[in-house]
Amino acid sequence: METEIVSVDNDMDNLLSYQRAVDILKNGGVVAFPTETVYGLGALATDADAVQRIFEAKGRPSDNPLIVHIGNKEAVDKFAVDVPENARKLMDAFWPGPLTLVFHKRPGVIAENVSPGFDTVGLRMPDHPVALTLLRTLDGPLAAPSANRSGKPSPTEAAHVLTDLKGRIPLIVDGGKTGVGVESTVLDMTANPPEILRPGGVTREMIEEVIGPVHAESKSPSASDEEAPRAPGMKYMHYAPESPLFVIQPDEAEIREAVRQLHSEGKRVAVIGPDEFEIAEADWYFPVGPLHDNVAMAGNLYGAIRKCDLTDADLILAAATDHKGVGAAVMNRLLKAADGKRFNG
Ligand code: TXA
Ligand code: MG
Repeated sequence: METEIVSVDNDMDNLLSYQRAVDILKNGGVVAFPTETVYGLGALATDADAVQRIFEAKGRPSDNPLIVHIGNKEAVDKFAVDVPENARKLMDAFWPGPLTLVFHKRPGVIAENVSPGFDTVGLRMPDHPVALTLLRTLDGPLAAPSANRSGKPSPTEAAHVLTDLKGRIPLIVDGGKTGVGVESTVLDMTANPPEILRPGGVTREMIEEVIGPVHAESKSPSASDEEAPRAPGMKYMHYAPESPLFVIQPDEAEIREAVRQLHSEGKRVAVIGPDEFEIAEADWYFPVGPLHDNVAMAGNLYGAIRKCDLTDADLILAAATDHKGVGAAVMNRLLKAADGKRFNG
């Protein structure tokens, strides 16, 4: 299969590009498109054959449920039942935006394989003009996981999608680099209190300001992976770089020392860290923004991991950050990429 890319950035032919995407989707095909978090791989959520094509293109385990994207808040009641008042408050506060809400699903509307074996559905209204235009032109719900091959970091640029899915999907709608850079927060509204299944761009603090206390996983994702059966996606290996990745303290001297030690063992080292650090010893250095600028780090982390994959590094060191704001989501993803490993000499 040829993979076509259409750009919708300042493109005179925007309407034709959207129409091309909608034609593919209405005929049961899949299309990659940008959201404000990461690129998604969409299929019509009411068409089980189309949804099946997502799992095939990604090589994704079919028991991991997909998020359904909608173009307006009113669509929630078409696909979900028992929507609590607190959820409406969150929708008013954060939609469109990087917050997925899990509800009891309305029977018989969304294809069964979107959340197989679950009586719930995760819904989100993305805050990206291209995603919203696509959803509104389609006038239907899009099941869409991140548009990476299973086990790769989520794509934050169309080029990442092409690297992973070239020849496996017919169309990529290129809307430039995504903004948030880590996937949406997933909040289970069927739990009491509601439970954060995956931290993301809408932080715990932001949610609690609107609806009061929620339950959240511990800060150690390696432990919670085993202990959180209600977070199905979290049990799968995710975001794995080609070389082993170790999280290290964001301390310039400590990182230098680590690189020296690894060199003495004959290893080549790629380092992911803040803009300010000068680690001349590193074989490759990929900056992800100013020190403790967690928003910048979220936006640049997956791209940096992908750059490491293009090197011959034997090992990757990635500088940690704090848990403030989106930092919780960044550290969650980083520790997953590291499989929980921290470098301590
Ligand atoms: O930002 C995002 O959420 C991106 C963009 C494309 O929207 N999508 C994304 O999808 O990250 P995916 O499939 O890579 O991750 C979906 C997560 C998984 O952890 C999955 O287990 C969880 O959401 N999820 C989806 N439906 C669920 C449900 N009904 N109950 C519990 N968890 C659910
Ligand atoms: Mg994903």
